[in-house]
Amino acid sequence: MEATASTDEYEHNVADVMYIVNNIPGPGVNVADFEAEYIVGCSCAIECHNCSCTRGSANYLNARIVDEKLAGPIFECNPRCKCGPNCGNRLVQNGPLNCLIVKEVAGKGLGLYTTRLIKKGQFICEYAGEVIGPQEARRRIEANKRHNMMNYVLVVTEHVGDRVIVTCIDPKYFGNIGRYANHSCDPNSSLVPVRVEGIVPRLGLFASRDIENREEVTFDYADGAMANSVHYLSDTPCLCGSNNCFRYLPHNQI
Ligand SMILES: C[S@@+](CC[C@H](N)C(=O)[O-])C[C@H]1O[C@@H](n2cnc3c(N)ncnc32)[C@H](O)[C@@H]1O
Ligand SMILES: [Zn+2]
Ligand SMILES: [Zn+2]
Ligand SMILES: [Zn+2]
Repeated sequence: MEATASTDEYEHNVADVMYIVNNIPGPGVNVADFEAEYIVGCSCAIECHNCSCTRGSANYLNARIVDEKLAGPIFECNPRCKCGPNCGNRLVQNGPLNCLIVKEVAGKGLGLYTTRLIKKGQFICEYAGEVIGPQEARRRIEANKRHNMMNYVLVVTEHVGDRVIVTCIDPKYFGNIGRYANHSCDPNSSLVPVRVEGIVPRLGLFASRDIENREEVTFDYADGAMANSVHYLSDTPCLCGSNNCFRYLPHNQI
């Protein structure tokens, strides 16, 4: 069975970066996890409001996330579900907004901008890249630091019941448009792990407030899926310019 494929119209104008639409397995992860698809889907005829996929309450309403700070994981409808492609529980799998551009930002390298108003709750794009194991993530973060290079590795920690699931994604060499999103201590979007065709989450960037035309799209690198996450600070100065700036970029704990 084929995984749900999303497509997009973006490409990189940067040397040595391969455009990928979805996460790919990298060093330190089990490739089988990418091939293991859900064996069950819902049997809803048209729409999914309260089914085995939405697990009791809708994840999305009118194509907007209901609560990006939800504790539980989001499961979108998958290739085995009977509902159609327009089912309201399919959002991240349908691909990014088409109003995103990449521009230089003083001191921060490149950044992600919108050319249209994005409404609170809308799905913007994924932060897709190589999914790597924790040891490899640690190695790459350290190497970036040693060579004074930008770091794209993001660590997301989920607490599901008494299980802790850590996902590390690096779009440095293989990534999508999401790799250009910079950090802000007062961000306008947040990253939510969403599962579509299997157990490896996709990291979806959702607007946490309305984002104006021409505004930079940012998220809190420390946020991950951790509610009330503590800011462990790196030694890279933060140039987000917000009033509550922590002055240094967060350091992912791994
Ligand atoms: C995921 S990349 C973001 C895109 C990157 N600016 C580029 O040019 O490709 C993360 C890197 O961008 C830079 N960056 C992101 N947010 C920043 C901020 N608020 N202040 C300073 N640099 C930032 C840092 O060098 C960081 O390691
Ligand atoms: Zn359903
Ligand atoms: Zn379903
Ligand atoms: Zn800041």
